Amino acid sequence: MITSLPERLPDTDAGHARAADILRAGGLVAFPTETVYGLGGDACDDRAVARIFEAKGRPSFNPLIVHFADLDTVKSHVHWTPEAELLAQTFWPGPLTLVLRKQADSLISPLVSAGLDTIAVRLPAHPAARAVLRALGRGVAAPSANRSGQISPTQADHVVKSLGDRVDAVLDGGSCPVGVESTIVGLVDKPVLLRPGGITEESLAQTLGRHLAVRHKAEAISASGQLMSHYAPDALVRLNATDWEPGEARLGFGDVDCDLNLSETEDLVEAAAHLFDYLHRLDAQGAKVIAVSPIPHEGLGIAINDRLSRASAPREG
Ligand code: TXA
Ligand code: MG
Repeated sequence: MITSLPERLPDTDAGHARAADILRAGGLVAFPTETVYGLGGDACDDRAVARIFEAKGRPSFNPLIVHFADLDTVKSHVHWTPEAELLAQTFWPGPLTLVLRKQADSLISPLVSAGLDTIAVRLPAHPAARAVLRALGRGVAAPSANRSGQISPTQADHVVKSLGDRVDAVLDGGSCPVGVESTIVGLVDKPVLLRPGGITEESLAQTLGRHLAVRHKAEAISASGQLMSHYAPDALVRLNATDWEPGEARLGFGDVDCDLNLSETEDLVEAAAHLFDYLHRLDAQGAKVIAVSPIPHEGLGIAINDRLSRASAPREG
């Protein structure tokens, strides 16, 4: 049996340059960080980000971490704070992720943070990751490079075994030294530990001069993108609309007459890439109800339907 494998790139200047070229063209590259291998795509490219979710086979859109080579580029996308500065000076580059408010004019794809107005950012320490990020000159969205539900990869072979040709290339940088994911700290309000990881709470507290609030379990679920933290439009959402009611904003899929079409050709990657942007746009028009064409429950359609059914769920108050 012939199975096609991802291109394997060496940890050399030529390998880093090739990885950056593939990313620039909208492809997916798995690359080593000091924590685990990341499944990277250009964070400003809606389709590349949608392909990340497709490759992982995630049933819902968890927000992703964006990786950068330098602090100035990070600061051009987020509202930087004194606490962020303190933590960055102490722990970056390294296994620490900061969640900050996104700047209104940031070109990071809305799908990266599942429509939230915050983004998770980090400067990884691994020399291969840094080299690729420098060569690309832009942010790279990257969850761990495994299929949803499988364990995180710490070697190139783990990535190939889990993702096969769902990823275009794997940069082989050997074993990841830390082996557990980065610590995530929310800095939107007071500092909150959102996920324990490569940097301990004690060392964070020492740097900040205060203890961090810790998310409780139920809230932790929302931190991983499952509950209220997702963008919910002001409008109500009506699913599986096969005709339109007067006054509704019409979000189509396929060959239908509508206000905005997720994908005229029924391409689920394209539909996912447009989803949050289009919900925002129709919401901004002030419609009371957004009606959405039926979307098949397969591949990325599962995540799209998951997201839409959360948006259509009854609201409190
Ligand atoms: O070490 C790591 O962090 C690895 C390497 C590749 O950098 N990446 C990683 O990504 O673990 P992932 O997708 O498996 O986990 C990202 C976590 C999720 O729990 C997600 O909910 C949270 O980051 N996250 C991302 N953006 C967020 C946001 N805007 N607000 C709250 N949580 C966010
Ligand atoms: Mg993961």
